[in-house]
Amino acid sequence: MKAVIPAAGLGTRFIPASKAQPKEMLPVVDKPVIQYVIEEAVAAGINDILIITGRGKRSIEDHFDKAIELEQLLRNENKDDQLKEVQKISNMADIHFVRQKEQKGLGHAIYCARKHVGNEPFAVMLGDTINIADVPLTKQLMNAYEKYQCSIIAIEKVPREKVVNYGIIDGEKIEDNIYKINNLVEKPSVEEAPSTLGITGTYVLTPEIFKCIERTKPGVSGEIQLTDAMKILLEEQSIYGLTFEGKRYDIGNKLDWFKANIELTLKREEFAEPMKAYLKRLLND
Ligand code: G1P
Repeated sequence: MKAVIPAAGLGTRFIPASKAQPKEMLPVVDKPVIQYVIEEAVAAGINDILIITGRGKRSIEDHFDKAIELEQLLRNENKDDQLKEVQKISNMADIHFVRQKEQKGLGHAIYCARKHVGNEPFAVMLGDTINIADVPLTKQLMNAYEKYQCSIIAIEKVPREKVVNYGIIDGEKIEDNIYKINNLVEKPSVEEAPSTLGITGTYVLTPEIFKCIERTKPGVSGEIQLTDAMKILLEEQSIYGLTFEGKRYDIGNKLDWFKANIELTLKREEFAEPMKAYLKRLLND
């Protein structure tokens, strides 16, 4: 299965940090966010990845390219660990790039992948979302795809006042962690939301989605929304939702980015103890 990572958005929620650098390149602990996303894809067994970029996103391409001068320098200085680390990044997977020339929304960004994807189911992983799970979330979705043979998307209960930030599903529970989706609404008001089950940003979609995107009219914010295209897909195919095991960090807003940094620092062996001691001291003060 191929993965498509949309990373073309302007990151307006992250100004000023995102003014001259892609929000997908913001570091969390010591890695840019998008590297976590690629690592999840690779851990799920995916090695063909298409990143949808746009103007001002060149540093994403550079990050996954070979860094010849840097490698040479590290070699000369016998910095083997760092050399391996740098080489690992450019050898992780076959990474391709295509540009979304105009900012017309998530659905339109995914449409830019149609020629690369072809007529196969594919994974979509948002470039600003980190999932931490024992079994990679994308793999959980791929396993569910094997079973149900139709599009399946990650969902999560969100606080009611937050439904306005998400695509929200209406569905019936058919298994412990699986919902059969009856309807989807992109960023509904609190009153209109059919549930509090939010779309978290990781999907396995059938290729018929591309035809549906063609038929999708501009929706919320005047953009071609992936959620609206899935609603059209629902007229001809089933779509399931998976409440996944693990934790999601949405890096798209500042507070969550801070929280992700703290939580993921605490998960790193070399930083956990000093960070805990520091936080304790800070809070006691
Ligand atoms: C996008 C999707 C939305 C989903 C969200 C998850 O919205 O359109 O359906 O719930 O990602 O983060 P965005 O966050 O780009 O506004």
